[in-house]
Amino acid sequence: MKKNIFIAIISLTMADYACAHDSVIRAGNVLDVETGRYSSDQFILIEDGRIIEIGDWSDFELDGEFIDLSDKYVLPGLLDAHVHLTGDASIHGYKRLTRSVPRQAITGVRNAERTLNAGFTTVRNVGASGYADIALRDAIYDGDVPGPRIIAAGPSLGITGGHCDNNLLPAEYEAKGDGVADGPWAVRAKVRENKKYGADVIKFCATGGVLSKGTAVGAQQYTLEEMTAIVEEAHLAGMKVAAHAHGAEGIETAIRAGVDSVEHASFISSTGIRLAIDNGTYLSMDIYVSDYILSEGEKVGILEESLEKERKVGRTQRENFRRAVQAGARMAFGTDAAVYPHGQNGRQFAYMVDWGMTPLQSIQAATINNADLFGVSDNVGTLEPGKFADIIALDEDPLENIDILADVSWVMKDGKVFKDKN
Ligand code: ARG
Repeated sequence: MKKNIFIAIISLTMADYACAHDSVIRAGNVLDVETGRYSSDQFILIEDGRIIEIGDWSDFELDGEFIDLSDKYVLPGLLDAHVHLTGDASIHGYKRLTRSVPRQAITGVRNAERTLNAGFTTVRNVGASGYADIALRDAIYDGDVPGPRIIAAGPSLGITGGHCDNNLLPAEYEAKGDGVADGPWAVRAKVRENKKYGADVIKFCATGGVLSKGTAVGAQQYTLEEMTAIVEEAHLAGMKVAAHAHGAEGIETAIRAGVDSVEHASFISSTGIRLAIDNGTYLSMDIYVSDYILSEGEKVGILEESLEKERKVGRTQRENFRRAVQAGARMAFGTDAAVYPHGQNGRQFAYMVDWGMTPLQSIQAATINNADLFGVSDNVGTLEPGKFADIIALDEDPLENIDILADVSWVMKDGKVFKDKN
């Protein structure tokens, strides 16, 4: 008797578990992000967190519950190639020195949920102190906290005194970015160390930046030899490489060294665009964030010298974005969330359309292009049988109204609903 009850409890638990993520969606309009075509009134069958089948609702026989998205526009979950989940947009500059790594990790928990609720089901976290992004990635994977899938870089590599170092304090404090390494063998060792502690991707700084103290935004950092060492070592370990680069020479050198994506790419030259096209290098241009820096920067602690740099970068970056799009470069969707508040990632779509993309191209950047850049096209980026059930729904057609991507109304990741605004 006792044994039977025990078995009944076990099987109930197992059945519950098996059914937990199984669901059927009735979708009003499903966007094929590759072609831009919609299929109307579809069913999407989900089992064990993956899409099993998609087809016409009229062909589907169901006597049971389903998720009703029949008045929605349904897309694959979005991907952002450039976030820092453990960073907080309300504190910049010297204020950031008050945040310990454990505190940053907790900030990351909050930001991960905001990002997921904005429809971003996979992100690339390109730089965090103390491997906090890796802890966050693993906690999300284990189901401890909600958040997107994370492709994590760990600490960004950079030269002493460069954009990826910490230059805010005088020498006696011995403050230093934990990814700082100089010389080809030192950078190789750093790549190996990041791999050892769980990194999926390598990020390094190939030029100065806007938000760092004392770096010239256009100036190259690292020599070709050092960049080549980073890329070679990362690729040996099966990791892709993202290079922060604003200045034209740093961009060209990074592409020649073989990086997989150039982040920011603000002052990219025609040669740089040509090189990117010839090498298949993705450009991840964060053309939304400038507005936030210039309007909120002073309040949140951004240094005056950084505001001055941003005034020179913002518009040129947008103009160069247009040139790169027109030339046919491979474009990623990367926003630099953390500089501006997490969860507003979707606001960048409208900027990309204003600066030369069609709405579909901007959606492709955040789905199929990013999936390719991250090396995860087998699992995410489109709605197809076999892929993860990472799905979002919108109240309006994003091809008609791109702004709607900043207001995602329903989010599923791994077959589990995380947001339902209705
Ligand atoms: N993290 C970047 C940097 O400090 C932000 C650049 C933002 N500006 C821009 N126009 N995208 O360099």
